[in-house]
Amino acid sequence: MTQSPTPIHEVVREHYAERIKNSASCCGPSAGSCSDSNLYPVDLLATLPEGESAVSYGCGDPITLASLQPGQTVLDLGSGAGLDCFFAAKKVGATGHVIGVDMTPEMIERATSSAKRMNVTNVEFRQGYLEDLPVDANSVDVIISNCVINLSPDKIKVFAEAFRVLKPGGKLAVSDIVTEGDLPEAVKQSLSAWAGCVAGAVEAKEYIGMMEAVGFTDVSVNPVFFDKETVDSALDEMKLDVKEYPREAVYKAVYSAKITAYKPDSM
Ligand SMILES: C[S@@+](CC[C@H](N)C(=O)[O-])C[C@H]1O[C@@H](n2cnc3c(N)ncnc32)[C@H](O)[C@@H]1O
Repeated sequence: MTQSPTPIHEVVREHYAERIKNSASCCGPSAGSCSDSNLYPVDLLATLPEGESAVSYGCGDPITLASLQPGQTVLDLGSGAGLDCFFAAKKVGATGHVIGVDMTPEMIERATSSAKRMNVTNVEFRQGYLEDLPVDANSVDVIISNCVINLSPDKIKVFAEAFRVLKPGGKLAVSDIVTEGDLPEAVKQSLSAWAGCVAGAVEAKEYIGMMEAVGFTDVSVNPVFFDKETVDSALDEMKLDVKEYPREAVYKAVYSAKITAYKPDSM
């Protein structure tokens, strides 16, 4: 199975290539001040070496959700500049291993050079698509992801790939944007709103349905609430190309969620 880039992949790739070049963040209506990330607990942020900034384009904290253990193999879907991989690398320790996959070469370059500078040796970054993961079947204990699956034009393929690479009994721990109720049509049609993690988001029940359809069990989706100011600044940051879009409708429909699911033990 190979994935050819669709127009959505291209727009999203260009968007994030540009953002990492300018080192700007963020993603989604929950992102807040991503470059000094308020998404994570202070003790987790403190595990970064001194002088390293937390460059995040995420919308939550999949690390705390994942409850990582020493020795585990972890895969980060859409690893961006590598922040969650660096946190995960600390948690799994020298006997564990972390793989970050991202389709944007500029992100892979940034994450790889940061790993080298920080001397993190149990992490590697692979360029590839979530819809066609460059990862062996049944090889990963935990999959994490932060504000990425909503960006895929083929989410069921992403979930099928995640299921394929997880070991039996493996866990998926994801922060992502989902919706409840309709988004304005103008927003749905906006490619910049797609790249900003709004237009590609689907209803929580559809998200759960796709995960269950590929075999995941014990799927849980719990909303994370952010204040209006945080949502406003994230939407401003996205510079939606819709002139008069009804922002209130976006507040109501889109939210960040903590999502967990498992691959059954016996297959
Ligand atoms: C919103 S950023 C999040 C990055 C990172 N998870 C974080 O929290 O900072 C989305 C990332 O996912 C990558 N991405 C989006 N769609 C992808 C796909 N279909 N396959 C691989 N990478 C993808 C982008 O290149 C970008 O680096």
